[in-house]
Amino acid sequence: MGKFMVGLPSNFEGMSGYRQRFIATQGPSKKTDPSSPPFNIVTEVKKEPVIQENIELVSSVYDGQEIESYRPNLKEVFEMDKAPEDNTTSTKRCVGLDIGTGFISCAEEEDSKIKFRKVRDAFFKLNPSKFLEGSANNFGEGMLKNAGAHYVKVDDQLYVLGDDAFKFANLFHQECLRPMHRGVLNSKQPVSNLMVSELVKAVAGKPQADDDVLYYCVPAEPIDAEFDVEYHKQILNGTFKELGYKNINVMTEGLAVVYSELSETQYTGIGMSFGAGMVNIVYAFMGIPVFAFSLSRGGDWIDSHAAQHSEETSNVITAIKEKADFSLADDTAGIQKAICIYYDSLLVYVVEQFKELYAKTPKKQLPNVTMEMPLVIAGGTSLMLGFVERLRELVAEDFPVPISEVKHAENPLFAVSNGLRRAATLSSAE
Ligand SMILES: Nc1ncnc2c1ncn2[C@@H]1O[C@H](COP(=O)(O)OP(=O)(O)OP(=O)(O)O)[C@@H](O)[C@H]1O
Ligand SMILES: [Mg+2]
Repeated sequence: MGKFMVGLPSNFEGMSGYRQRFIATQGPSKKTDPSSPPFNIVTEVKKEPVIQENIELVSSVYDGQEIESYRPNLKEVFEMDKAPEDNTTSTKRCVGLDIGTGFISCAEEEDSKIKFRKVRDAFFKLNPSKFLEGSANNFGEGMLKNAGAHYVKVDDQLYVLGDDAFKFANLFHQECLRPMHRGVLNSKQPVSNLMVSELVKAVAGKPQADDDVLYYCVPAEPIDAEFDVEYHKQILNGTFKELGYKNINVMTEGLAVVYSELSETQYTGIGMSFGAGMVNIVYAFMGIPVFAFSLSRGGDWIDSHAAQHSEETSNVITAIKEKADFSLADDTAGIQKAICIYYDSLLVYVVEQFKELYAKTPKKQLPNVTMEMPLVIAGGTSLMLGFVERLRELVAEDFPVPISEVKHAENPLFAVSNGLRRAATLSSAE
């Protein structure tokens, strides 16, 4: 039977400079899109995350296996004031959980603020002997503890988890492993479910009461790939049950964006979430999806294609892209040019696919309205400078739905978890 050990830093100040640098690189992008209209909801997102840490020794069972672990409880907390129209309240704890291909994030209301916690949905299989020539195996674990890395030990195999996995992989010019692929659990990685469960514990923890309400999201059915959303949905449902949640609900990702951003139009409009594995799209009327679909291209697709034009691994391209201070309109040369080319190709593809699906949908299924409605964009991939502007250009011509405005979500990385939290609150309102 496998033993699982999870180690975490007890204080940030005491960490090595190496670990401090890891943490210092986290946080929301500093990029802003000058082309975006000013946000019309008065809210404030804290620019720097607050690091909360503590170590908790727990014994648990996962999938019939006993787990002994130092429960990961490293949290990066981002705060946002509640939007004025977000005035529904519930006496229950309402949790929105976005299990994404790139990040796992969680939203809940605490002390009249919306708090978000996120972690990179990744792990890295560490083989200490590979890079610590001749050192004893347990040196690897000691090194991880000293560095304050978040790790799991399964039958003497060390896995570094979350943001640290990404940093370790980049350090050794290797790819990190991902529990999810194109929006769903990666069945090629046998430890995927366990890793997701550990990461969920890190951001959401266990329920605090029996009536906690949890909403999580799944991709809408993909129209350009064959995979099983149902299996993914059931496995995640089981994971939340094992953690102790009882009131578990599911929503498609695009609709969660609409719930987060379009309350002013009574949840009418188009929501698009540009993630790592997928683009999720919904056309919703009064909170009901007219149609919802997903496309199996996203940030990972851009990274892996751009990597083919360089000597670097995909996750080095990811790091370059996330730190980029160039705009899509500024595609000079090299990696920057490759990234811009694939971004543009993705955006053209999404708009074309929307038009095709709209044309194929029987007229009786489409709402009989001529009013203009907003199109809202969310997801980490949309953080690139010039992204909103380019999409605006593409929908300006021949788009089948009349669009009043193309706007960026208040907080693109957290719109999905925020929408799920809001759905949980609305469903359990007094
Ligand atoms: N500042 C940034 N600039 C450009 N891209 C970014 C930035 N920050 C994150 N990304 C990219 O956004 C993607 C992650 O976005 P997001 O968290 O919305 O996806 P996800 O929900 O994890 O994935 P999916 O919805 O496809 O399952 C990754 O490809 C990441 O590299
Ligand atoms: Mg997503």
